[in-house]
Amino acid sequence: MALYSEKVMEHFRCPRNVGVIENADGIGEVGNAKCGDIMKMYLKIDNDIITDVKFETFGCGSAIASSSMATELIKGKPVSEALALTNKAVAEALDGLPEVKMHCSVLAEEAIKNAIEDYYAKRKEK
Ligand code: FES
Repeated sequence: MALYSEKVMEHFRCPRNVGVIENADGIGEVGNAKCGDIMKMYLKIDNDIITDVKFETFGCGSAIASSSMATELIKGKPVSEALALTNKAVAEALDGLPEVKMHCSVLAEEAIKNAIEDYYAKRKEK
């Protein structure tokens, strides 16, 4: 049996929403100390809706596929829905990840949560 689903391979080969958002409303950066992979998420938020999202991931194929899928899942959605996104939901949307690669999807969940926290913190400063 193939280790990775077709969807994982497809999002790894052609990741969606790669890049940087200048003047992002929220930026989240997380890393995994064990593997050394780093993920950065940029959010543009308007009226509590995530109008744009981009990511930069310096990591393994599963981390890239997870970031790509996670951005697709939260784009156009309310902030509350993005906050509720779990790594399991990301992995399921990718038709599963090998057990040893589940932590890669955790990075996506955490990066989004961090970016939303940053958005709330920035709003308070204003
Ligand atoms: Fe660490 Fe994939 S091996 S994020």
